Amino acid sequence: MVQLTLPKNSTITEGKVWPKPAASRTKEFRIYRWDPDDGRNPRIDTFHVNVDDCGPMVLDALLWIKNKVDPTLTLRRSCREGICGSCAMNIDGMNTLACTKGYDEVKGAVKVYPLPHMPVVKDLVPDLTRFYAQHAFIQPWLKTASPTPQKEWRQSREDRSKLDGLYECILCACCTTSCPSYWWNGDRYLGPAALLQAYRWLIDSRDESTGERLDDLEDPFRLYRCHTIMNCAQTCPKGLNPAKAIAEIRKMMVERQV
Ligand code: SF4
Ligand code: SF4
Ligand code: FES
Repeated sequence: MVQLTLPKNSTITEGKVWPKPAASRTKEFRIYRWDPDDGRNPRIDTFHVNVDDCGPMVLDALLWIKNKVDPTLTLRRSCREGICGSCAMNIDGMNTLACTKGYDEVKGAVKVYPLPHMPVVKDLVPDLTRFYAQHAFIQPWLKTASPTPQKEWRQSREDRSKLDGLYECILCACCTTSCPSYWWNGDRYLGPAALLQAYRWLIDSRDESTGERLDDLEDPFRLYRCHTIMNCAQTCPKGLNPAKAIAEIRKMMVERQV
């Protein structure tokens, strides 16, 4: 049998168990910690949150821990209402937004990790450089050749409604980092979030570069690595369906050849 040896720093070790607060109701959190500057392996720290002193969401609990127990706990957040996408992380085995996930929904200890298969900057903060570069690649803006109208690019209500289910994407990266095809080919496959955005511009009635956009996606890896595994649709905290958008792009590719 082949013996595989993992690099020493790839092993997650048991971390510190922080003291329990003197409170009648507490919730246990087991949180991934990694500091690139201390030279130690990643570890899982255990905290107990006083739920009578804390809001109901996982983000509330993380901020409670940061404010009252360990100020070095590092995470991203901004809007705290499911709009900015910055608090995306893996909670109880599922990628989601910490600010809209109630910790009461989790039985037992709440396990919190950074989004999977991305380099980690520190603790719960993933490095999304490549994710944003892939979004930029699809050129997420209106591209036109016609003279610019005096007031605005107009769109019928019917055409506008075609963007429903697409424009709501908050670029949280939950879908892309849950996609097995992206885990293995993330350097070449654009992933569900970027492709959902690509489709959003492809079907915008005001956009005049559909052919060019399709040319840019016509590649064995950029588009065609989706194997309809559907993790993306299951995990999207906004209830969107990137797999369906990808299937629509593939349909457009076929249709333009007929
Ligand atoms: S359906 Fe496609 S994009 Fe979505 S998770 Fe599966 S392989 Fe990835
Ligand atoms: S499609 Fe959903 S999961 Fe993916 S980036 Fe957009 S909002 Fe996040
Ligand atoms: S803090 Fe903005 S989506 Fe969670």
